[in-house]
Amino acid sequence: MIHEGVDKSKRQFLTAALTVVGAVGTGYLAVPFLSQMQPSAKAMAAGAPVEVDISKIEQGQLIRVAWRGKPVWVLSRTPEVLDILKNDTAKLADPTSLESDQPEYITDSLRAIKPEIFVAVGLCTHLGCSPTFRPETAPADLGKDWKGGFFCPCHGSGFDLAGRVYKSVPAPTNLTVPPYRYITDTLIIVGEDTEGATA
Ligand code: FES
Repeated sequence: MIHEGVDKSKRQFLTAALTVVGAVGTGYLAVPFLSQMQPSAKAMAAGAPVEVDISKIEQGQLIRVAWRGKPVWVLSRTPEVLDILKNDTAKLADPTSLESDQPEYITDSLRAIKPEIFVAVGLCTHLGCSPTFRPETAPADLGKDWKGGFFCPCHGSGFDLAGRVYKSVPAPTNLTVPPYRYITDTLIIVGEDTEGATA
Protein backbone atom coordinates (compact mmCIF):
# COMPACT_ATOMS: atom_id res chain seq x y z
CA MET A 1 0.00 0.00 0.00
CA ILE A 2 2.79 2.37 1.02
CA HIS A 3 4.69 1.51 -2.16
CA GLU A 4 1.57 1.96 -4.18
CA GLY A 5 1.05 5.43 -2.56
CA VAL A 6 4.66 6.39 -3.23
CA ASP A 7 4.45 5.11 -6.79
CA LYS A 8 1.19 6.95 -7.32
CA SER A 9 2.61 10.26 -6.02
CA LYS A 10 5.77 9.66 -8.05
CA ARG A 11 3.63 9.13 -11.14
CA GLN A 12 1.64 12.27 -10.39
CA PHE A 13 4.85 14.26 -9.85
CA LEU A 14 6.38 12.92 -13.06
CA THR A 15 3.19 13.64 -15.00
CA ALA A 16 3.07 17.19 -13.62
CA ALA A 17 6.77 17.70 -14.33
CA LEU A 18 6.44 16.44 -17.88
CA THR A 19 3.43 18.67 -18.42
CA VAL A 20 5.44 21.69 -17.25
CA VAL A 21 8.41 20.69 -19.41
CA GLY A 22 6.04 20.19 -22.31
CA ALA A 23 4.47 23.59 -21.78
CA VAL A 24 7.86 25.27 -21.42
CA GLY A 25 9.09 23.40 -24.47
CA THR A 26 6.07 24.47 -26.48
CA GLY A 27 6.48 28.03 -25.26
CA TYR A 28 10.15 27.98 -26.15
CA LEU A 29 9.31 26.83 -29.63
CA ALA A 30 6.40 29.23 -29.96
CA VAL A 31 8.40 32.37 -29.12
CA PRO A 32 10.89 32.20 -32.01
CA PHE A 33 8.11 31.10 -34.34
CA LEU A 34 6.00 34.12 -33.40
CA SER A 35 8.95 36.47 -33.50
CA GLN A 36 9.75 35.19 -37.02
CA MET A 37 6.16 35.71 -38.06
CA GLN A 38 5.80 39.24 -36.69
CA PRO A 39 7.93 41.14 -39.26
CA SER A 40 6.22 39.30 -42.05
CA ALA A 41 2.74 40.11 -40.71
CA LYS A 42 3.82 43.71 -40.16
CA ALA A 43 5.33 43.89 -43.62
CA MET A 44 2.15 42.47 -45.09
CA ALA A 45 0.04 45.08 -43.28
CA ALA A 46 2.33 47.90 -44.43
CA GLY A 47 2.47 46.55 -47.97
CA ALA A 48 5.40 44.34 -48.73
CA PRO A 49 7.94 45.40 -51.37
CA VAL A 50 7.30 44.06 -54.86
CA GLU A 51 9.95 42.61 -57.17
CA VAL A 52 9.62 43.49 -60.83
CA ASP A 53 11.46 41.61 -63.58
CA ILE A 54 12.35 44.24 -66.16
CA SER A 55 14.29 41.90 -68.45
CA LYS A 56 11.40 41.45 -70.87
CA ILE A 57 10.12 45.02 -71.06
CA GLU A 58 10.59 46.23 -74.58
CA GLN A 59 11.76 49.77 -75.33
CA GLY A 60 8.78 52.08 -75.11
CA GLN A 61 6.70 49.54 -73.20
CA LEU A 62 5.03 50.22 -69.87
CA ILE A 63 4.09 47.52 -67.39
CA ARG A 64 1.92 47.85 -64.31
CA VAL A 65 2.34 46.27 -60.91
CA ALA A 66 0.47 46.80 -57.64
CA TRP A 67 2.20 48.04 -54.50
CA ARG A 68 0.29 48.92 -51.33
CA GLY A 69 -2.92 48.75 -53.33
CA LYS A 70 -1.68 51.40 -55.76
CA PRO A 71 -0.78 51.03 -59.43
CA VAL A 72 2.94 51.40 -60.08
CA TRP A 73 4.21 51.90 -63.60
CA VAL A 74 7.54 50.71 -64.91
CA LEU A 75 8.33 52.27 -68.27
CA SER A 76 11.24 51.53 -70.58
CA ARG A 77 12.16 54.85 -72.18
CA THR A 78 13.76 55.02 -75.61
CA PRO A 79 16.79 57.24 -76.39
CA GLU A 80 14.45 59.48 -78.42
CA VAL A 81 12.15 59.91 -75.42
CA LEU A 82 15.11 60.71 -73.18
CA ASP A 83 16.19 63.40 -75.65
CA ILE A 84 12.77 64.99 -75.58
CA LEU A 85 12.64 64.85 -71.79
CA LYS A 86 16.03 66.57 -71.50
CA ASN A 87 15.27 69.33 -73.96
CA ASP A 88 11.56 69.98 -73.94
CA THR A 89 10.99 71.43 -70.49
CA ALA A 90 9.59 74.92 -71.13
CA LYS A 91 5.98 73.95 -70.51
CA LEU A 92 6.61 71.97 -67.33
CA ALA A 93 5.54 73.37 -63.97
CA ASP A 94 8.40 71.80 -61.99
CA PRO A 95 11.03 70.44 -64.43
CA THR A 96 13.63 69.73 -61.74
CA SER A 97 11.13 68.23 -59.29
CA LEU A 98 11.67 70.67 -56.46
CA GLU A 99 8.17 70.05 -55.10
CA SER A 100 7.87 66.38 -55.97
CA ASP A 101 7.18 63.41 -53.81
CA GLN A 102 10.16 61.23 -54.66
CA PRO A 103 13.07 59.58 -52.82
CA GLU A 104 16.12 61.72 -52.04
CA TYR A 105 18.36 59.49 -54.16
CA ILE A 106 16.34 60.37 -57.26
CA THR A 107 18.32 63.48 -58.11
CA ASP A 108 18.32 63.46 -61.89
CA SER A 109 15.77 65.65 -63.66
CA LEU A 110 14.61 62.55 -65.56
CA ARG A 111 13.53 61.17 -62.17
CA ALA A 112 15.02 57.70 -62.27
CA ILE A 113 17.97 55.72 -60.92
CA LYS A 114 18.75 54.64 -64.48
CA PRO A 115 17.30 57.04 -67.07
CA GLU A 116 15.96 54.31 -69.36
CA ILE A 117 13.70 52.81 -66.68
CA PHE A 118 11.11 55.13 -65.16
CA VAL A 119 9.11 54.03 -62.10
CA ALA A 120 6.13 56.00 -60.81
CA VAL A 121 2.95 55.64 -58.82
CA GLY A 122 0.22 55.73 -61.44
CA LEU A 123 -2.12 58.11 -59.64
CA CYS A 124 -2.79 61.71 -60.59
CA THR A 125 -1.60 64.20 -57.98
CA HIS A 126 -4.83 66.18 -58.38
CA LEU A 127 -7.57 63.87 -57.07
CA GLY A 128 -6.06 60.45 -57.58
CA CYS A 129 -7.47 59.23 -60.91
CA SER A 130 -5.18 56.96 -62.88
CA PRO A 131 -3.79 58.79 -65.94
CA THR A 132 -3.65 57.01 -69.27
CA PHE A 133 -0.36 56.17 -70.98
CA ARG A 134 -0.16 58.22 -74.15
CA PRO A 135 3.33 57.76 -75.62
CA GLU A 136 2.44 58.93 -79.12
CA THR A 137 3.35 62.39 -80.41
CA ALA A 138 0.73 64.89 -81.60
CA PRO A 139 -2.39 62.69 -81.35
CA ALA A 140 -5.56 64.38 -82.60
CA ASP A 141 -7.21 64.57 -79.19
CA LEU A 142 -4.20 65.97 -77.31
CA GLY A 143 -2.88 68.39 -79.90
CA LYS A 144 0.24 68.92 -81.97
CA ASP A 145 2.37 69.94 -79.00
CA TRP A 146 1.89 66.63 -77.19
CA LYS A 147 5.26 64.82 -77.13
CA GLY A 148 4.15 61.69 -75.34
CA GLY A 149 3.25 61.37 -71.69
CA PHE A 150 0.46 60.54 -69.30
CA PHE A 151 -2.94 62.17 -69.56
CA CYS A 152 -5.46 62.24 -66.76
CA PRO A 153 -8.96 62.05 -68.22
CA CYS A 154 -10.69 63.20 -65.04
CA HIS A 155 -9.81 66.91 -65.27
CA GLY A 156 -7.27 67.08 -68.06
CA SER A 157 -3.88 67.11 -66.34
CA GLY A 158 -0.91 66.16 -68.50
CA PHE A 159 2.47 64.78 -67.47
CA ASP A 160 5.52 64.02 -69.57
CA LEU A 161 7.22 60.61 -69.65
CA ALA A 162 9.18 61.54 -66.52
CA GLY A 163 5.87 62.14 -64.73
CA ARG A 164 6.47 65.90 -64.68
CA VAL A 165 3.30 67.93 -64.69
CA TYR A 166 2.59 70.58 -67.29
CA LYS A 167 1.81 74.16 -66.35
CA SER A 168 -1.79 75.37 -65.95
CA VAL A 169 -3.44 72.03 -65.23
CA PRO A 170 -5.29 70.97 -62.07
CA ALA A 171 -2.58 68.56 -60.82
CA PRO A 172 -0.31 70.54 -58.48
CA THR A 173 2.82 68.38 -58.56
CA ASN A 174 4.69 65.77 -60.56
CA LEU A 175 3.70 62.12 -60.26
CA THR A 176 5.08 60.35 -57.22
CA VAL A 177 8.18 58.18 -57.58
CA PRO A 178 8.07 55.34 -55.04
CA PRO A 179 11.16 54.06 -53.25
CA TYR A 180 12.84 51.36 -55.31
CA ARG A 181 16.23 49.88 -55.99
CA TYR A 182 17.98 47.50 -58.36
CA ILE A 183 18.61 43.99 -57.06
CA THR A 184 20.29 43.09 -60.35
CA ASP A 185 20.44 44.83 -63.74
CA THR A 186 17.14 43.18 -64.66
CA LEU A 187 15.32 43.03 -61.34
CA ILE A 188 14.06 45.94 -59.30
CA ILE A 189 12.22 45.98 -56.02
CA VAL A 190 9.54 48.60 -55.42
CA GLY A 191 8.92 49.68 -51.83
CA GLU A 192 12.47 49.22 -50.63
CA ASP A 193 15.11 51.94 -50.83
CA THR A 194 18.78 51.87 -51.73
CA GLU A 195 19.72 51.01 -48.14
CA GLY A 196 17.46 47.97 -48.22
CA ALA A 197 14.97 49.55 -45.84
CA THR A 198 11.27 49.44 -46.58
CA ALA A 199 9.58 52.79 -46.95
S1 FES B 1 -7.66 63.70 -60.90
FE1 FES B 1 -6.30 63.98 -62.56
S2 FES B 1 -6.76 65.94 -63.27
FE2 FES B 1 -8.10 65.69 -61.60
